[in-house]
Amino acid sequence: MLHLPDLSPLLPWYEKNARDLPWRHTRDPYRIWVSEIMLQQTRVEAVLPYYARFLDTLPSISALAAAPEAQLLKLWEGLGYYSRVRNMQKAARTVMEQHGGEFPATFEDILSLCGIGEYTAGAIASFAFDLPYPAVDGNVLRVAARLLCYQRDVLSSLAKKELTAAVAAEVKKHPTATLNQALIELGATVCLPNGAPRCEKCPLKSSCAAHQNGLEASLPVRKKPAARKIEARTVLILRVGDRIALRRRPDEGLLSGLYEPYCLSGNRTAKEVESELAALGISVLRITPLEAAKHIFTHLEWHMTGFEVLLDDASAGLLPQELFLAPREKIDKVFALPSAYRAYRAFM
Ligand code: ADE
Repeated sequence: MLHLPDLSPLLPWYEKNARDLPWRHTRDPYRIWVSEIMLQQTRVEAVLPYYARFLDTLPSISALAAAPEAQLLKLWEGLGYYSRVRNMQKAARTVMEQHGGEFPATFEDILSLCGIGEYTAGAIASFAFDLPYPAVDGNVLRVAARLLCYQRDVLSSLAKKELTAAVAAEVKKHPTATLNQALIELGATVCLPNGAPRCEKCPLKSSCAAHQNGLEASLPVRKKPAARKIEARTVLILRVGDRIALRRRPDEGLLSGLYEPYCLSGNRTAKEVESELAALGISVLRITPLEAAKHIFTHLEWHMTGFEVLLDDASAGLLPQELFLAPREKIDKVFALPSAYRAYRAFM
């Protein structure tokens, strides 16, 4: 078993330096849960406006359980990783059906909910219910790896197990909620990734094994992930008057259930686009090239080129079946579009 150094200096440091964040003012497990799910994969500053709007619109577990899918996706639009919000709704329905609408108050029951893993269960259990569980996310793994001068790949399951056990032993000795928040805060503001820690500001620098060995910039060790697949696509903003052609993506797979403009595979020229549309009997009034754009998913990159394509009213009936024409104001209010299309949004 690995032993972390004494973490008590973190507590006064946290009291003095913690950022004032809305989810740190509540013990309501629903509000804490929403914050933790949003904060997975998303920066604090990006989460703040979404968090407020989500809770204004869906202030309770029962409201979340009952929300229509389109509303959920719209509230999440731009945050990415949409399965997060779908899983939250599944979990909310479980809470309504199996826990009488009360968020469960034991670690095991929290962990059994859809979309809640060890980290999130520990965060909710400690922040909402003061239970002595660790909350080890990527930030805290990095802090622990540096404190221990840990040399294995931190993404391996062994590393997660060993480092989580070390943190678990420590958080039991302190007010757990505060210590968990303090570890997260240290990782987010001082013990920074990519070789850029601010050790001069760290309350634990005198007991940090990586710092003592001058290895803080090269830790944690992370094995290179497999290269992402690259997919070229041509985004067509097909416009008829003030309506834009959209389709709903399939129920399964990447960005399922979200809406998108018509796309062709590959990076096509204007001529190629026109002949593709001509094959459907559609004639183009005007075609304007748009900027190229790139979007990076976890395992995939989209390399996009785009065109705005003006069509006449007669073309509306010739569009592929999966497309429908959406008035522009409905795109703003009703249809959730993935941020992968951000570069083309101004034309929609
Ligand atoms: N990232 C994950 N959980 C967090 C929290 N509670 N506060 C700030 N950043 C976080």
